[in-house]
Amino acid sequence: MSHLFAFDYHNPTRIVFGPDSFAQLPALLPAEARVLLLYGGGSIKKNGVYDGIRAALAGRDVVEFGGVEANPTLATLNLAVDLVRREKIGFILGVGGGSVSDGAKYVACAALYDGDGWDIVIGKHQPQQALPVGVVLTLPATGSESNAGSVVTNTATQDKRAFFVPPARPRFAVLNPTVMASLPVRQLENGIVDAFVHVCEQYLTYPVGALVQDGYAEAVMKALVRLAETFDRHAEPDWQQNLMWAANQALCGIIGVGVPQDWATHRIAVELTALWGIDHGRTLAIIQPALLRELIEYKREKLEQFGREVFGLSAPSAEDAIAAMEAFYRSVNMPLHLRDAGINEADAADRVLAGLRAHGKMTLGGHAGIDEVKTERIVRGACG
Ligand code: NZQ
Ligand code: ZN
Repeated sequence: MSHLFAFDYHNPTRIVFGPDSFAQLPALLPAEARVLLLYGGGSIKKNGVYDGIRAALAGRDVVEFGGVEANPTLATLNLAVDLVRREKIGFILGVGGGSVSDGAKYVACAALYDGDGWDIVIGKHQPQQALPVGVVLTLPATGSESNAGSVVTNTATQDKRAFFVPPARPRFAVLNPTVMASLPVRQLENGIVDAFVHVCEQYLTYPVGALVQDGYAEAVMKALVRLAETFDRHAEPDWQQNLMWAANQALCGIIGVGVPQDWATHRIAVELTALWGIDHGRTLAIIQPALLRELIEYKREKLEQFGREVFGLSAPSAEDAIAAMEAFYRSVNMPLHLRDAGINEADAADRVLAGLRAHGKMTLGGHAGIDEVKTERIVRGACG
């Protein structure tokens, strides 16, 4: 039976890319707006990014809020919401990685909502309005800079949740690859793998004859594999700009239009960050191989295509494709099992399963019909 595409694609984020892109900031921000400069734990103060942005914004009305954590928490972001209200902020400029970008979107919505901000995270309140947001990206990985997604953690309940806030999609994203010079190798490795898994979640399902979407997904994945193969060149501008653009394209929405998707790896993996604080990219490498092995019969044809087109294998089996993917992850120092990330608790898998149960995610459904039994086998495979 043929699969007919049906979608409504509109990505209005303006992307300003290049080594001199900070200079565009004054033109991108509304002239009269009071701007909140939202940032993370302070890397921007050490690597010159903060100075470059303050110089570009000379003469503008800017208020600052620093301290957004990696895997941002509701409590910290709500302090920024208070500041936005007190200072009558009109524009939110996030300067950082996915965590700051996600935080900016939450703050932009929560500042205009009278109820409890957690309502937005759990989907009880769907914002129809938000303060305008712009992002200066410092870490290519999530694609958050030009999508409508956000992920916020409630520390009290160890609940890390993804949600969608279209009104807070960034108006612009400044992508200046020179900011990557100060990134630790570990964050570059994370970025490659997070972006790669974003493509997988939109591609590794079953074939629907989507020539453009498949071809584009494979091009982005091949670029990421190439970046891993040439990792020793990560300090070079060519390498950096390719990762920045690949990570953006992986989750700006374009490769997934009209095709079946399966975000189960992400939905399970966030529990590992909530429990042990493991970097997002690494949690994906821990969960995905076990998940693909469990669901191999549902994904067999697409896995074979993946092995052929992305890894250049000749007539690969689905098993060969998974092995090639694992070798690629290993080449960028990813853990492939929870114990490789230094977690050796005997009840680790039980704790992950308890989290999934508490957060209503034991039955993930999707094209592979993930039920409680499959979820348990995936988690025991990855964490047991
Ligand atoms: O906080 P600072 O001091 O800035 O340091 C950060 C942080 O410690 C550091 N860093 C960022 N840019 C740097 C730098 N250090 C030196 N030089 C630079 N240029 O890197 C550390 C990690 O930053 P973070 O923003 O947490 O990383 P990432 O971009 O990987 O974002 C991860 C978050 O995004 C969510 C994840 O769940 C996680 O919470 N995701 C968001 C998505 C979305 N909105 O679409 C999709 C993803 O699947 C993901 O779930
Ligand atoms: Zn991700």
